[in-house]
Order: sequence, then structure tokens, then C-alpha cells
Amino acid sequence: MRILLAGGAGYIGSHTALALLRAGHEVTVIDNFVNSSPEAIRRIENLAGKQVSLIRGDVRKKTDLLPVLKNGGFDGAVHFAGLKSVGESLQKPILYYRNNIDTTLTLLECMEETHLSSIIFSSSATVYGSNNPVPYREDMPRGLCTNPYGTTKSMMEQIFHDAAAANPELSVVLLRYFNPIGADSSGRIGEDPQGIPNNLMPYIAQVAVGRREKLTVFGGDYPTPDGTCQRDYIHVSDLAQGHLKALEYAVSHTGCEIFNLGTGTPYSVLETVRTFEQVSGVKIPYVIGDRREGDLPACWADASKAEKILDWKAERTLEDMCRDAWNWQKNNPMGYETLHKS
Ligand code: NAD
Ligand code: WQD
Repeated sequence: MRILLAGGAGYIGSHTALALLRAGHEVTVIDNFVNSSPEAIRRIENLAGKQVSLIRGDVRKKTDLLPVLKNGGFDGAVHFAGLKSVGESLQKPILYYRNNIDTTLTLLECMEETHLSSIIFSSSATVYGSNNPVPYREDMPRGLCTNPYGTTKSMMEQIFHDAAAANPELSVVLLRYFNPIGADSSGRIGEDPQGIPNNLMPYIAQVAVGRREKLTVFGGDYPTPDGTCQRDYIHVSDLAQGHLKALEYAVSHTGCEIFNLGTGTPYSVLETVRTFEQVSGVKIPYVIGDRREGDLPACWADASKAEKILDWKAERTLEDMCRDAWNWQKNNPMGYETLHKS
């Protein structure tokens, strides 16, 4: 297949690009590098021994995107292009609504004009909101999100539903990711957050490599077995394989389908810290701090729909996720080194 990855230079997009190349597909990436580096693409090409067609462009701009679709001869597209920081979205809501919604609308308009009919969308477990019981199933209603980032995901899901309802040729797969962590086992590509990491695994990895002094565990008094929050961490390479299965599904179906991509097994913050310590042999100093506003005590997937319909199941363990995150971080202590660091 020939696949367009919008935002394909980022963390999940780069791992998906590598999985696609390794499976023999052709990959085009369009990215404006607002949160990524072209170095990731260079490394993917090196790992796969194949070329990626790379376009520096803004997915919001039809003048950037339409020529790519017109000339691409694509079988499908994956829409990763978005801003993803929960905290930043509270500070800069307009930026988040503008970027995330506009990329989606422009992509759908250009797809319509060029008769490209299969699209996979990077959605998030955050759309379940705070009132659904765990584990989350795809047939539960979307909930109210506590931040603009989450609301953009929920709004974009609605846009895709409406577009698919209006166009019988369109095939949309909404993938609700749980907590992607880890890196390709080569240690050549991985997660490279700008500034102080918001997310747990990059923070732990930066403590391990000496870039941060200690981890603050956000809350130790949750109604969970050890008092810290539980999450469904999923290896990014398993997640990437899920996109291949979703693309195969999308090109042979129409309509709009939702799939959770998680392991179905929750781990607490402290279990994750201990596992990282075991596989890396590095002690992670931590303190138990206040709860972080908006955090849910527990979040995990019912992952059975993707297994039944897509024939996809996460294979890698929490040990694998921590080992690969550490392998990436220790080999690239400053990430790709082309982004602004603090
Ligand atoms: P990322 O920031 O590493 O990747 C997003 C990519 O999109 C970046 O390369 C960025 O430069 C690009 N981009 C952003 N706006 C763009 C625009 N207007 N034009 C062109 N390129 C643009 O994030 P990621 O972790 O790889 O996430 C990919 C997608 O998955 C995002 O939509 C994110 O919201 C979603 N998601 C991520 C997680 C997670 O925990 N990482 C969880 C659930 C959903
Ligand atoms: C995991 C756990 C924290 C950092 C976020 C988004 C979600 C999705 C995935 C995009 C929580 C705790 C964290 C730290 C800590 N992204 N933690 N100290 O919040 O589950 O999900 O990323 O769609 O929408 O909200 O992930 O990695 O930030 O936190 O104790 O320094 O680690 O409280 O329990 P989260 P996370």
C-alpha cells in the first residue's frame, strides 16, 4: 500500500512509518516539525533500508496538502498531526482548537477532492471522560473532557462520524490509544519531548539519565492497590502494528469504526517505576507529591474488539516497554538534539 502519514515524524508516526516500511509499504510523511525532527525520518530510512517521501508542510494549509494528495496515489492516510500536551492546551486553548480541528478539516477536504477514501485517526482514551467505568469499551458514550486537548479529540471524532455518515465511500477508523510508551528496540528512534516532560515514562527516563533530579509521583492516596494511579501502558511498536491492521481493515470497509489500542492490563505509577529500575539497574529517586488536577485514578482498555475484528493484540510486556524506553534514552540522552531543550 501507499500510505500518507500526516504528522508522521512524531513519536507514534515515526514508529508507524518504520513498521509500514518493514512490512513492504510505501510511506509519505507530511510534517511541519512543530514537535519533531527530520532526524527521525533519516533514522527510519536507515533502519528500514528504504526511502520515505518527506514533505515539510502544514496540514492545516490546503496549498501544502492538496498537491501531496494529488500526486501521491495513496491507498490510505493516517492523521497523527496534532498538538498533544494537556497542560499547554489549558494555557493555549485557541492554538489547540485551531491546529487540531483545522488539520482534520483540511485533510478531509483534500481527501474528498482527490477521492482518497480511507483514513485512520489518532484518537485517545481521554474521550471516555471521567464518568465511564473501567475497563473502557468502544460502545460507551464519549464523556466530558477536563481539558481542551481532550475536547479537540472528542470533537474530531464527531467530525469523522459526520463525514462518514454523509459519504458512503468513506472509511474511517478511530484508534483510541491508551498510554503509549517505549521505543523501537534498536534504540535509534523514540519519544523526544521538548522541555520538561509531562508524561511519566519520559520523565522517569530523564531522571535515569541524569537530566532530572527526581520524579514527583502525582498523588499517593488514590483508591488503588498502592494509592498511585493506574494506566494501560502500551508499547509504541505494538501500537504501530495496530495501525497496519487498521489500514488493512479500512481499505476493505466503509463507515466509521472505533478501536481501543491498549493491553487491557493496568499498572500503577509505582509498579512502573519499579519495573524500570529492575530492567535498567538504575535507581529512580522519587517523592510522593500532590495529585495532578484532571488525573483519573484508573484508566484501562477492554482490548477485545481490536483482537476480534482487527486480529491485533499487544504482545510486549511492561518490562519490554521500560527496557526499550531506557535503551532509547541512554543512547540518546538529549533526544534528537535538534529541538529546543531545557
Ligand atoms: P507528536 O507530537 O510526537 O507527533 C505529532 C506530529 O504532528 C509532530 O511531528 C508534529 O510536528 C506534527 N504536527 C502538529 N501539527 C501539525 C500541522 N499543523 N501540520 C503538520 N504537522 C503537524 O505526538 P505523538 O505522541 O506521536 O502523537 C500522535 C497523535 O496521537 C497526536 O494526534 C496525539 O494527540 C495522539 N495521541 C497521542 C498519545 C500519546 O500519549 N503520545 C495518546 C493518545 C493520542
Ligand atoms: C501517567 C501517570 C500521572 C508524570 C496523558 C494524556 C492522555 C494521553 C496519554 C494523549 C498518571 C503519573 C506522570 C509525572 C506522575 N495523551 N505521573 N509523575 O495523564 O495518563 O495520559 O497521555 O491523548 O490524554 O492525558 O499520562 O504519562 O502524563 O501520566 O506521577 O511526572 O503517571 O499522575 O497517573 P496520562 P501521563
